[in-house]
Amino acid sequence: MVKEALKGRDFLSVNDVTNEEFEFLMDYGIELKKQQKSGCCEPILKGKTLGMIFHKSSTRTRVSFEVGMVQLGGYPLVLNANELQLGRGETIADTAMVLSRYIDGIMIRTYSHASVEELAEYADIPVINGLTDLLHPCQILADLMTVKEHKGELKGLKMAYVGDGNNIANSLLNGCTKVGMDLAVVTPPGYEPNAKIYETALKIASETGSKITLTTDIKEGVEGADVIYTDVWASMGQEAEREARIKIFKDYQVNSEVLKIAKPDVSVLHCLPAYREEEITSEVMDGPHSIIFDQAENRLHAQKALLACLL
Ligand code: CP
Ligand code: NVA
Repeated sequence: MVKEALKGRDFLSVNDVTNEEFEFLMDYGIELKKQQKSGCCEPILKGKTLGMIFHKSSTRTRVSFEVGMVQLGGYPLVLNANELQLGRGETIADTAMVLSRYIDGIMIRTYSHASVEELAEYADIPVINGLTDLLHPCQILADLMTVKEHKGELKGLKMAYVGDGNNIANSLLNGCTKVGMDLAVVTPPGYEPNAKIYETALKIASETGSKITLTTDIKEGVEGADVIYTDVWASMGQEAEREARIKIFKDYQVNSEVLKIAKPDVSVLHCLPAYREEEITSEVMDGPHSIIFDQAENRLHAQKALLACLL
């Protein structure tokens, strides 16, 4: 039922799916992971093609979508943005209408979220957001699936996100409120997540029972956390600010002292890529609390669930 309802839809934001659909996608990802580990993978997407447009670098998103399509029996087509006519001024709308005549879905990673919304408006096929400056919904699907695998129930857990109020922080506001998790977003003053997304999260939280807090105080945010999550201090497109941000964010590093403030069995997440010894120490990244590489692996399984449903 839920699977059928997702067919043909876009996934530009975690909020494009209902709470029930989001839970289904995580559970289906866990199921597809089991199937793959036991050596069986049904060719659910035989004959289907996914076009993938990249305006920014990628390791995990590109490889996990590409391998995911192959494992599902479909065909992944990487479309480098600078090789498309899009780079020479063909409109997003025309590109969307043309691609809809050839392929069965589009995954796009770009800067402007509005461009992805425009692509989805003109495409007749599902459009998946593979990261914009605003959101990274596929990442959060895999992240919460990983926490569910490690901790069981998500509802009632507390996550502390420490760092920049970026696309990951914004999508975590959407995701945690959806599953009833508490979320404390800890940032330096002036680096808070998107105000509109925060307002929406507060509304959804009042329905699902999540407690959402924004703070600049790392101790207050991390106290009692079941999960600590961090991300780079300068995202793609902000390279020129990196040196300045290293100074601004220096007290927001996830290290062994910060872990001591959280619950003894705290798990640590990072969407990767990481700048080791900046936002996170190697001691934590490679230590016993880190579930970071399970998280990276789960991009594959969670997105296979997404592709199998949408396409
Ligand atoms: N986490 C993530 O999206 O990684 P990539 O930038 O390597 O795709
Ligand atoms: N916030 C980071 C996430 C990378 C997966 C960026 O946008 O570069």
